[in-house]
Amino acid sequence: MQKITKVVIPAAGFGTRFLPATKANPKEMLPIVDKPVIQYAAEEAVAAGIKDIIFIIGRNKQSIEDHFDKAYELEAELAAKQKTLLIDSVQAIVPSFVNCIFIRQPTALGLGHAIHCARPVISNEPFAIILPDDLIDSDSCGCLSQMMDIYNQTGKSVLAVERVKGPEISKYGVIEIENFEDRLGKIKTIVEKPPFESAPSDLGVVGRYILSYKVMEILGRLPPGSGGEIQLTDGISELLKLEDINAFEFYGTRFDCGSKLGFLKANIALGTKSGEVGESLISWIKEQKF
Ligand code: G1P
Repeated sequence: MQKITKVVIPAAGFGTRFLPATKANPKEMLPIVDKPVIQYAAEEAVAAGIKDIIFIIGRNKQSIEDHFDKAYELEAELAAKQKTLLIDSVQAIVPSFVNCIFIRQPTALGLGHAIHCARPVISNEPFAIILPDDLIDSDSCGCLSQMMDIYNQTGKSVLAVERVKGPEISKYGVIEIENFEDRLGKIKTIVEKPPFESAPSDLGVVGRYILSYKVMEILGRLPPGSGGEIQLTDGISELLKLEDINAFEFYGTRFDCGSKLGFLKANIALGTKSGEVGESLISWIKEQKF
């Protein structure tokens, strides 16, 4: 079985839901407590044993590259002031043995197209995908690490899913499953953003995937689907015709940081766990008469 060492993190979207905050700053750089949202994705990948992080970026995303690069002047300034803890926090964004690779998606043709842009650096091997908007907080092992365990046991592609209540399901890729045992099941069908009335189940795909390389070949020849975009979900649906794919209901709490409400919830939930401000934040929340 081939080991998974590469993750693709697409970060090319415009972030229109957060305008004007995202007029000049990428949405992936908005902070959850004290780290940009994309750093949580990178940390989850590193914790899962990933060695190469492939960021798919677009125009105006320079600050993402800078964030994962060395900041000489800042480090020198902090060193002069002997701010050791702060130096550590800027140096340890990802460990030195992890490669950060940046690829430009020239035109925003959809998530499937963004993933396909990573094809030149993924050489016929299975790979992972993390959508940084989906921040998954888990007390024990990260969502991608949980999925790596499943992949290592089965050798098959695996998607993370969660139950979604009511009409919200029409915002997701939705799966139909044969049966779930220990949170794991074989996918029968998958469809992108179906109407609530015809959704095949309440199991929505969240932004974590481990996929066989064949999906790259499929994405390269897919026509546009839902919303006129080349959809990753359509590629996975084609892959299903060739091989089994599992769905895994992960352990943890997911925050949709691509929405204002999810973003605020993530800041509050992770803020309450922060060693620096957690206790004060909890006391302040308790005092409020919202
Ligand atoms: C994307 C995928 C969708 C998935 C969702 C998870 O949609 O296309 O299948 O369920 O991420 O967050 P987006 O949220 O980019 O519209």
